[in-house]
Amino acid sequence: MQIFDLAGKTVLVTGASGGIGLALVKGFVEASANVIAADLDPEPVAAAMQGNDSVMPIALDVSDASAIDEVLAQARARFGPVDILVNNAGVKSGERLIDGDRKKIQLTLSVNTEAVLNLTRLVYQDSMKKSGGRIINIGSSISSRGAILNYQAGGADYCYSKAIVHDLTQLLAYETAPQGVTVNAIAPGIIHTPLHDRPAEETEARHSGRIPLGRIGQPQDIVGAAVFLASEASSYITGQVLHVNGGMVMSD
Ligand SMILES: NC(=O)c1ccc[n+]([C@@H]2O[C@H](COP(=O)([O-])OP(=O)(O)OC[C@H]3O[C@@H](n4cnc5c(N)ncnc54)[C@H](O)[C@@H]3O)[C@@H](O)[C@H]2O)c1
Repeated sequence: MQIFDLAGKTVLVTGASGGIGLALVKGFVEASANVIAADLDPEPVAAAMQGNDSVMPIALDVSDASAIDEVLAQARARFGPVDILVNNAGVKSGERLIDGDRKKIQLTLSVNTEAVLNLTRLVYQDSMKKSGGRIINIGSSISSRGAILNYQAGGADYCYSKAIVHDLTQLLAYETAPQGVTVNAIAPGIIHTPLHDRPAEETEARHSGRIPLGRIGQPQDIVGAAVFLASEASSYITGQVLHVNGGMVMSD
């Protein structure tokens, strides 16, 4: 459908070599976008998308703010300014906030949270301030419900890092609306990716009993929501957190 078409748009996806990231890269290419596929290790996405001229794999540590300008310059030279930013890079962590390892907690916050703000600020200055755009942050269904769900798939520090992403989404949506930027988050439930570091059957056995649709998700389950939030179809939606979780958490 025309309103989901992303022809002529440039999308920057971080964490593009991971489970959800790679599915997003493929989904955006299918929607006719050009994709800057950034990851600490871009080799897996480069191998998966080999020969596809719409994809530019690139190395980027999102927690290294000084590296971002160069990536944006290369992106601009190849495909023009970034229209859609997907802050997807993330790390799982299992630390307790009250007495967990301070350094591990700091790393989680640095990658999952601070980098989202830093990259968004730089992309906003580089292109979106003038020409508008779309920002999609990947949060998590467990975020602020972590305590209720007994953390379920991460530690309190992970929940904390993602709860801030949800708040940040709403604050940035408010600040950037006058420039024609929409900012939304997708909050995945339990999705089978390398993040869980165990076979799918184990993740299924551990979590599916608490998921009304009766199964854990696959990376492909996130793609429709991302293309929707990147496209004209969602032009009147901003500041929202869209849970894609089989009903595991139902928000009002
Ligand atoms: N899988 C789930 O159940 C689930 C649930 C909720 C939210 N999420 C979120 O979805 C996003 C994607 O996770 P995934 O499940 O695909 O995990 P994944 O481990 O498969 O992929 C994460 C990717 O991020 C990259 N990355 C890590 N640190 C980075 C850094 N500093 N700079 C650049 N890239 C970096 C990794 O190299 C990896 O390719 C994450 O933000 C994660 O927190 C996942």
